Parts: sequence; C-alpha cells; structure tokens
Amino acid sequence: MEDNNQKWKEDFPINRQQANQVSRRDFAKLLAFVSGGMAMGNGIIAAKSLLEKPEKGHKRELICDVKDIPVGGTKSFTLSGGKIPYILVHTEEGSFFSYEQKCTHLSCAVYYKPGTGKIECPCHQGYFDVKTGNVLQGPPPRPLKRLDVIVEEDKIYVQSPKEETA
Ligand code: FES
Repeated sequence: MEDNNQKWKEDFPINRQQANQVSRRDFAKLLAFVSGGMAMGNGIIAAKSLLEKPEKGHKRELICDVKDIPVGGTKSFTLSGGKIPYILVHTEEGSFFSYEQKCTHLSCAVYYKPGTGKIECPCHQGYFDVKTGNVLQGPPPRPLKRLDVIVEEDKIYVQSPKEETA
C-alpha cells in the first residue's frame, strides 16, 4: 500500500509550497479580473444614465384612474414614446407622487415601502422621501427626478415639473 503511494509521488512530483503559491497567484488574477469587470460594468451604467437625455417637455399624460391604485400601492409606467421607467405612488395619506424609477446612484430600480413614507433602492440601501424625492439615507447623490401629478375627476395625470418645461 505504501509502495503504491510512493510510486505515485515519483510519477507526479508536486512541490506543495510551489503549488500553493501558484494557486494564490491565480486567485489574485481572478480577483483582479472580476473586480475590474465589475468596476467597468458600474462605470458603463453610470455613464449611460448620465448621457441619457431627460424626457423634457412632456404634456399632461393620463396614467390611470384613482381606483386603479389602492392606498399604499404603486403603478409603474413609461411616458408615451419614452423608455424611462416611472413610478406612481398612492401614499397612506391619500396623496399621489411620481418619480423616475431609477436610483440616482447607479440606476437600480427603486420601490415604495408601504407604511414608511420612503422609496427604497435595494441595491445599496438608498432611501428617498416619498413626498419630495429627496435622499434620506445611503449613497444616492441626488433626489429622484419628479413628475407633477394632477388628479382631476378621478383620473390621474402626470407632467414634467414646470421648471423643466420652461
Ligand atoms: S444604486 Fe441605488 S443606492 Fe446604489
């Protein structure tokens, strides 16, 4: 039994210390490759969101009826002809607010947390005030982009804020 073991070692000699060093080096290369890939991916996402043209000058647009969004509920939508995702929130106080559904940090989708008054970005625990879109916590550098919400005769409309359309 022991002879077989010795024979194997003679046929395939391995220097354990050298083998461990190679392994660590390979691991370091893999780590550098993966980190570089992730950094490049984040850079592309950030650059893309900065280069995207904002959808300005939109006229008032019908989104849905009031009864379509329960209290504490939300509705996702895009403006006609646009690709930017938006979220419409019906707060527990009965008000409606609408924002771009993209976090201002690295463009992850944001979600309303019912009962908290906060919009959350689950990527890095960023939080925004549902009433203003302002950053409450986390890495987002700017408030969420807001749309004005108009409720008329049980219909909900949105439009770009006046300061953006002027
Ligand atoms: S992408 Fe939203 S907090 Fe980072």
